[in-house]
Amino acid sequence: MSLDTQHGPFFQSIASLPLTLRFGSVLLLFGIIVQCLRAAYKRFGPDQDAARGKRPETGHEHSQTFPPSQRRLLARVDPRFPPDKNDIDPSKLAKSVLAMDEDYRRADPNSFVFSGFRVGEVLRLGDFPNYAELSGVPLPEPLEDFGINATLPRPYRPFRWPYHQTMAISRMEHDYWIELESTYLEMVQRRLDIFAEYGKGVLQALPGSELACKELMEMAIQFLCARYPRQFSLEGNRTFVNGIRGKRFDLDGTDPLMFLLENVPEDFALMLRDPETGSYRFRAGVICASTGWSLGSKIGLGLPGIHGPVPDYKEKMAMSMDRFFTKMPTDKPVQRGAWGFEVGQHVHVPPGHPELSRDVAGDPSVRPEDIFFRVDWQTLRRLPLSGAVAFNFKLFFYPLAELRDEPYVPSLALKVVSDSKSNLLRYKKTLALAPMLNPLLEEYERHQVATGMVEAGWEPRTLEENPFFPGWQGKWTRQQAQLKQ
Ligand SMILES: *[C@@H]1O[C@H](CO)[C@@H](O)[C@H](O)[C@H]1NC(C)=O
Ligand SMILES: *[C@@H]1O[C@H](CO)[C@@H](O)[C@H](O)[C@H]1NC(C)=O
Repeated sequence: MSLDTQHGPFFQSIASLPLTLRFGSVLLLFGIIVQCLRAAYKRFGPDQDAARGKRPETGHEHSQTFPPSQRRLLARVDPRFPPDKNDIDPSKLAKSVLAMDEDYRRADPNSFVFSGFRVGEVLRLGDFPNYAELSGVPLPEPLEDFGINATLPRPYRPFRWPYHQTMAISRMEHDYWIELESTYLEMVQRRLDIFAEYGKGVLQALPGSELACKELMEMAIQFLCARYPRQFSLEGNRTFVNGIRGKRFDLDGTDPLMFLLENVPEDFALMLRDPETGSYRFRAGVICASTGWSLGSKIGLGLPGIHGPVPDYKEKMAMSMDRFFTKMPTDKPVQRGAWGFEVGQHVHVPPGHPELSRDVAGDPSVRPEDIFFRVDWQTLRRLPLSGAVAFNFKLFFYPLAELRDEPYVPSLALKVVSDSKSNLLRYKKTLALAPMLNPLLEEYERHQVATGMVEAGWEPRTLEENPFFPGWQGKWTRQQAQLKQ
């Protein structure tokens, strides 16, 4: 059985979704992970039956399964804790783990977070423990000469061909968990405006997510202060100074998700373990960049609910997906990119928004310079103390014309957009923009062949530099130097 036929139903079902949703970050990220898992399960055997849906449906299959715990690192992080290398027995954990909606701050200190830490230990660790040590993910290298207005996002071009040739997810580069660039001030403001209009539709924390939200905020702060030491600082664990916005944030009075909205123009979704089933649910987050769906319509749901519009999800994918979340280790975060071509630079397009039904291809007022290449660069990591799985999405727009001088990129994009031999790609064949987009990409391709940038007859395949392209660093550096002038 080839991957194509095996995954056909999922991608065919995607084909029936509105165009803009097809590149929707959450759905595709989950989809790709499952694709990789199933390939792995096929090789390693024992889950074959589960992958085929033969396993009996109990609904509680993961209730005794907990993620690998980082608790053994406690003594290394804080000398007040005695060394204890033993993980808590899963059956003991299952008996005294917090309820999903329980606030750890008011819970019995002897009870457990599903990460394997005791509530009392988490409380004793206090604010800003060494998350790098606890998570096994190092802090980023400092950018001493960083200037926000002279920094461009890296030119992500995550095209892959053939689609299933390589794994779509790779190890997260720990310097790039969060990536700030020249649209920072504008994007923070845009996102504040979106929140002002949509409120809980884009930012919400359900009961029981308190620890995950606090941990995410503190990890983001530690990252920002380490990566951009001249822009951000933390005073006495209580005051965060944002030099770019010229604002100070008193952390005592700040909601962690509001803090993220004010300081990090990226989206975050927190998935927490439901102790009844051991599966994960979307319990908190801030998501402004969503097209065809919104945080408000997905919050509280489990993975099958999030994938509601995808027929067959429950039968074909739920099991592998649950398994991935159940087991994902804290020290192995991953990253990947979802991409699309769009007219305009839309951030928040909630369900029912007129933009969703707009016929861009038939609109004579749309000009080539209105087309943007959009990338949702995504990371997925487990937070050490709460055990929450944190999705992070950052949205970048690049003018289409950028692709013209990027070797192989137009040919590769054209191949992926127009080739429909594989079921995996069927949905892209009907890309509404194709009549306008393809001739432009073809022109770029001819230009590259004519100028010797690309050899004639080059057979498109995933580039070694994926998610970038040959010479990307030179181009990126040059463009940033121009911004400095
Ligand atoms: C960056 O540009 C914005 C808008 O032009 C400006 O308000 C801000 O002061 C600049 N920041 C820095 C650090 O130069
Ligand atoms: C911040 O909190 C950590 C952990 O609770 C503690 O070790 C550290 O001394 C605190 N720093 C300040 C400046 O209070």
